[in-house]
Amino acid sequence: MKMSERGRKMTSLSGIRGIMDDIALAGSAGGRWLNLSPGNPARIPEAVETWRRLYRETSQSPEFAETACRYGPSRGADVLVQEIVRYFRGRYGWDVDAANVVVGPGAQMLAFAAATLFTGPGPDGFRPLVLPSLPDYTGYHGIPLERAGIAGAAPYVEPQGERRFAYRLDLEAVREHRDMGMMLVSSPSNPTGRALPAAESTALVALAEEFDVPLVLDHAYGQPFPAIAADPVAPVMHPNVIHLFTFSKAGLPGERLGFAIGAAEPISAMVSFLANVCLHAPQTVQATAARALAAGELDILTEKVLVPHYLAKRELAERALDTLLPAGLNWRLHTGSGGMFCWLWIDEPWFGDLAMYEAAKRRQVFLVPGRHFFALPPESAFAAAHATRCFRLSLSAPEDELLEGIERVADVLRELGRA
Ligand SMILES: Cc1ncc(COP(=O)(O)O)c(C=O)c1O
Repeated sequence: MKMSERGRKMTSLSGIRGIMDDIALAGSAGGRWLNLSPGNPARIPEAVETWRRLYRETSQSPEFAETACRYGPSRGADVLVQEIVRYFRGRYGWDVDAANVVVGPGAQMLAFAAATLFTGPGPDGFRPLVLPSLPDYTGYHGIPLERAGIAGAAPYVEPQGERRFAYRLDLEAVREHRDMGMMLVSSPSNPTGRALPAAESTALVALAEEFDVPLVLDHAYGQPFPAIAADPVAPVMHPNVIHLFTFSKAGLPGERLGFAIGAAEPISAMVSFLANVCLHAPQTVQATAARALAAGELDILTEKVLVPHYLAKRELAERALDTLLPAGLNWRLHTGSGGMFCWLWIDEPWFGDLAMYEAAKRRQVFLVPGRHFFALPPESAFAAAHATRCFRLSLSAPEDELLEGIERVADVLRELGRA
């Protein structure tokens, strides 16, 4: 059987999927493997217990048969859509109703829906998906159905002090993508934890308006939950902005639930898209999430459990990196408080992210090479000089594994530097 161009594109192994396969293979190899690569949230007992209790309440409620044993609306179960409306009206004063909300099986699927609706071949030529603030979530890279479907803008890189650095949006580089069909950005970002400052997000909104395209803002790590990376600017409603939210990083990645809020027109298009491809998101989890919002449980979980957990992890990792990484090495960590990751830049001519990945694997540690977060060809000047000199460590492993992993990373860096 011959596969279509789209089939070939969608089955090609992205870098990150290759790593997932590697991890699965390593599991059977024995030894103490330290996996510092996943986007999975940490397994926090209080979070597990909260969701378990809410699920129990849902499954024992009289509505269970109506939710689990029947198809539901493609926009999302009424009970959840109404809770989302109430929550965002109350929390941010947004003038929204059900027409502004669509619930889907995860933010990833909602990003795919939006990108398929607004990018790709069209009446005025090919319109790519643009990531305005690189580096950004590897999961975006596989979204477009066409090979040349994605482009990204390299940022400014600003060293800060001895051992820290930060990115800054290069708006002119974004503006060069005049043919864009949509912009997509995680804020706070995976991998850096950096939230777009007010001035940058205002500039991107203005650009979206000028180019008449959607700006999709993905709040997977930010406000209102799980709020595990500092995000001082509250999200704002605008006709060109579609906001994505997910329950995954608040502890429910396996249940596949997210939602989008935006202007009624694009949201209605996303509802139709979901109706065509998957009918709707699973309903038991929708009823459970509605419970969590209605009773304020998700806010309590966020404030009392998730935020302190990741802050403590980040502080622990920063201290370990500052103490353990070789003093003579020109390394820097992306600034920021909280977040689920540490994003490191090794500014040495001998350093390569893939060599680092392989060497770390020989020490039974998994991390993610930097290039997978940049929608740029690895031979481009920016990728060669910067992207391939970065890597990401996840904070979701238990403390002892995180510390041991950082120790092994330090050994690997010493070894690579000597070679
Ligand atoms: C920025 C970002 N957006 C979306 C997702 C996926 O979210 P969901 O599980 O809701 O599909 C992830 C998962 O790692 C992510 O890092």
